[in-house]
Amino acid sequence: MEWSREKRYRRIEDVSSEELNALEKQVQESPYRQTFHIQPKTGLLNDPNGFSFYNGKFHLFYQWFPLGPVHGLKYWYHVSSKDLVYWEDEGIGLKPDTKYDSHGVFSGSGFVHDEKLFLFYTGNTRTQQWERIPYQCIATMDKEGNIEKTEQPFISGSPQGYTDNFRDPKVFEKDGKYFCVIGAQIQTDEGKIVYYESTNLLDWTLKGEIQTNFLQNNGFMWECPDYFEINDKAVLMFCPQGMDAQGDDFRNIYQSGYLLGEPIDFQNDGKFNHGNFNEFDHGFEFYAPQTMLDPSGRRIMIGWFGLPDVDSVTDEYGWAHCLTLPRVLEIKDDKVIQKPLPELKELRKEKHATSVSLDQETEKWSEIAFRTYELKLTIDAASYGKTGLKFRVGAAEEVLFYYDADENKLVLDRSKGGKLSTKEYGTTRKCDFDITKFDLRLFVDESSAEIFINDGQEVFSTRLFNEEMSNGIEFFSEGQANIAATTWRI
Ligand code: FRU
Repeated sequence: MEWSREKRYRRIEDVSSEELNALEKQVQESPYRQTFHIQPKTGLLNDPNGFSFYNGKFHLFYQWFPLGPVHGLKYWYHVSSKDLVYWEDEGIGLKPDTKYDSHGVFSGSGFVHDEKLFLFYTGNTRTQQWERIPYQCIATMDKEGNIEKTEQPFISGSPQGYTDNFRDPKVFEKDGKYFCVIGAQIQTDEGKIVYYESTNLLDWTLKGEIQTNFLQNNGFMWECPDYFEINDKAVLMFCPQGMDAQGDDFRNIYQSGYLLGEPIDFQNDGKFNHGNFNEFDHGFEFYAPQTMLDPSGRRIMIGWFGLPDVDSVTDEYGWAHCLTLPRVLEIKDDKVIQKPLPELKELRKEKHATSVSLDQETEKWSEIAFRTYELKLTIDAASYGKTGLKFRVGAAEEVLFYYDADENKLVLDRSKGGKLSTKEYGTTRKCDFDITKFDLRLFVDESSAEIFINDGQEVFSTRLFNEEMSNGIEFFSEGQANIAATTWRI
């Protein structure tokens, strides 16, 4: 189907129920529907938005184009949860229905204040000549779930010196004041983060740019910024578009990562002393993550399990993408650690365990035939060669994850993992690693895998579109190794 501008900007409200039912039917016929990830019922999902805890529940919205697997007129779709594991459908949260968001309710954040959930977002608009004018807008949700937009945006257009790529407000509190970081681009096509200050969440004053030292190879636009502090350390996260690959890093079309450093003095000059830019996820699809502080003080992050400007294998079924599982963020040794949310254990059903001693061989785990599961391994790898795991093994398919003791690297290889839509970006991903004894937790859903090493020290995520109903698990080593495994069907 040709996705003309006219088709991308059709409103769901103007589409007949017959047409919507036909689209839903097409999606339901897709072989790749997830079972424990948030996914759109039709159309395309992208960034998580408005992630918050309000009125006894977690609230999460996502960027949604309902009518097909492309980026078109965006809505915020709303889901809620008591435990971050099981989610309830709350329907459309925000519609593009004012002159300040006529061409899409773009990404933004949530903040609880005055018994209300404040939602900050970018209203995307286009003129007759298709020039973009961004507005930063506010809506509030009450305890009954009614959402109301304020009459005026709090920022109109972009400040002097910035292009129309100015979006994705993330609001937080620090030292008794409210701050809002916004993704931006300067006229010479470099990504930046601009910030504003407020005392009432409604009126905002431009403070300036966050001053980083991340100036080389830093991309033409920085999307979806977020900022938080843990134990006197600060994390500034954002998604630079247009970085060149460097060694094993930055291999996907666009990046998602963070700078870690000393807390920023936002009231003063916004200067940030920080280390290198690190990617959150070494896998193939991860973008636009957003964090929130939960009632017990944990910093929780959810990302888009997808990327902009690339096709998805599910496109032919009228839908694309999902969100990642939630991760709990901590800081350890100047690094952000991403632990799988402990509550995910609620998903576990029947359990199997085994342990294998390998001597230059591959061993099948024969009693296992789950399609969706969590797998926990303790790997004591050989001191040379590769030791690891093959999963989703079928007649012609397999996904490999292993430690390579010769190269001191962890490797995810999906070259034989089924259908791929982004082969041009390579089919293996790696990161440095020099520990031969480590733990691994793998969550496999119908069309994805998320791998956590040593409780979140390294993470690899990948969508997987098997052509067969492959479900085998095998362990292998090119030397002598021991692997203890437990798996739970999900
Ligand atoms: C990131 C992004 C945001 C924007 C939204 C539009 O994926 O481009 O910068 O607000 O998607 O859907």
